[in-house]
Amino acid sequence: MDDIRAGVETMRLHGTMAINGKGHLTVGGCDTVDLAENFGTPLYIMDEAYIREVCGQYRETYIEPYPGNEVLYAAKAFLTMAMVRVVAQEGLGLDVVSGGELYTALQAGFDPARICFHGNNKSREEIYAGVRANVGRIMVDNPAELDTLESVCAELGQTVSAVPRITPNVAAHTHEYVQTGQLDSKFGQAIATGQAMDLIQKIIQSKHVRLKGVHCHIGSQIFEIEAFRLAVQNMVAFVSEVREKTGVALEELNLGGGFGIYYTEGDDPQPIQSFARSIMDAVRQETGKYGLPVPRVVIEPGRSIVGAAGITLYRVGDVKVIPDVRVYVAVDGGMTDNPRYALYQAKYEAALANRMNDPLTVTASIAGKCCESGDMVARDVQLPGVAPGDLLTVFSTGAYNYSMSSNYNRLPKPAVVLVNGGKADIIVKRETPEDIIRNDVVPDRLR
Ligand code: LLP
Repeated sequence: MDDIRAGVETMRLHGTMAINGKGHLTVGGCDTVDLAENFGTPLYIMDEAYIREVCGQYRETYIEPYPGNEVLYAAKAFLTMAMVRVVAQEGLGLDVVSGGELYTALQAGFDPARICFHGNNKSREEIYAGVRANVGRIMVDNPAELDTLESVCAELGQTVSAVPRITPNVAAHTHEYVQTGQLDSKFGQAIATGQAMDLIQKIIQSKHVRLKGVHCHIGSQIFEIEAFRLAVQNMVAFVSEVREKTGVALEELNLGGGFGIYYTEGDDPQPIQSFARSIMDAVRQETGKYGLPVPRVVIEPGRSIVGAAGITLYRVGDVKVIPDVRVYVAVDGGMTDNPRYALYQAKYEAALANRMNDPLTVTASIAGKCCESGDMVARDVQLPGVAPGDLLTVFSTGAYNYSMSSNYNRLPKPAVVLVNGGKADIIVKRETPEDIIRNDVVPDRLR
C-alpha cells in the first residue's frame, strides 16, 4: 500500500485526472485505456475542464479586480480551431505569432479586435493579413517591421494600433533557449542601447501606426516573481523616460507570459493569484514613483493555461534492459510529438495508464521511435514492471508538444482529443500516410 501511495503522489494527478476501479487513469471522465483503443496511439489528450478552470483563475485575478487589464492566451503553446473556441468562450484575448496562427484564429471566428499579432520577423504577407483583418494590436519588433507595417497601412488606407517589443534587460532563471529578456536576444529592441527609444520615436513619427504601449516577455517556465517585478521596474522607468522625451503617456503595459508549471519534483509554480497580486502591486508602486497613471496591464500566458491540462498516451513496444546501465522503454512516438527533451533536456513524469495502482519497481527511460539517439521523451522515470503492450502516459504535455510536433522520419502527427464530462472529441485528426505525401511533387522528368 505504501508503494502504491508513493507512486500516485509522485505523479501528482491533477485537473480531472483520477484512477478508476480497474486501476486505469481517467481524464475528463474518460478511461485512457478506452481512449487509446478508440483513437489509437500516440494520442494527445487535453482536459477541457482544467483549461477552463485556469482561464477562470486568470480572469478572476487579473481582469475582474482590475478592469481594463487583459489576458491574452499565447497561441504558440497549443492552438487548434477548437482551442480558439474555448479561449473565446472563456473571454480571453489571443496572442498569435504567425500568419498560420492568425488564420486559425480567424477561421474559428475569433474577434480580431482581441488578437495581438507578435513575431520578430513577420513577412509583408503576414503583416498585410493582420492589418486587413483589423487585429487589435500589431507588436512591432524592429524598425524594418515598422517600415513594412507603415507601407502596408498606406497601401490599405488603414491605421493600426501598435506596441513595440522592448528588451528590459532581465535575465530570468530558466533554460537559456527560452530566456528572452536579456540584452543579447534576437527579440525586440533594448532599453540599454537606446534602440528601444529610437523605435518608439519612429512609431510616433509614423503616419498610420498608433503607439499604444510597450511590450516585454522575459522568458518561459519562470517561477520567480522577482523576475517579473524587475521587468515591471525597468519597463515603467522606460515608460517614464518616453513621457519625458516625447510627451507621450503610454496607456498599455504588456508583460508577456512565462509563468512556470509543474513538470517534475523541484518545479514549484506560484499560484496565479500571487503572480497577479505581485505584478499589479509592482506596477502601482513603480508608476507611483514617477507620477504616471496606472496603465492597463496585459499578460500572455500560454504554458500555464494548457501545459498541465495535456497528457500523451503511447503504446509500449520493446523493453530493453541493459544490465547495470539502463532500462529503455520504447514507445510509438518520440521527438516528433514531443521534442522538448531533445531541445531543452525537459523533464517529465510518466506512468502506466493501464496499471496506475501497481507498485513502482523500475527506473526506466522512455525512448522514441525516431532514428536518433537523442530521441528520448523522458529519463529515469519510476514505473511498475513494464511490458510490451502497456499504455504509457507522459504528464503535462499540453504546451509546446503538439504545437512543436514534426514529421521527422515521415511519422504522421498524432490525433488530439478534447475530453470533458465523460465525452471525448477529436479536435485534430491523426495524420495518415496520404497526409505525409500530400505536398510532394514528382517532376515529369522523374516519372
Ligand atoms: N508572449 C510572448 C511574446 C512569448 O514569446 C511567449 C512564449 C509567450 C507569451 C508565452 O509564454 P508561456 O506563458 O507559454 O511561457 N518552446 C518552449 C517555450 C517557448 C516560449 C516562447 N514564447 C518550450 O517548449 O519550453
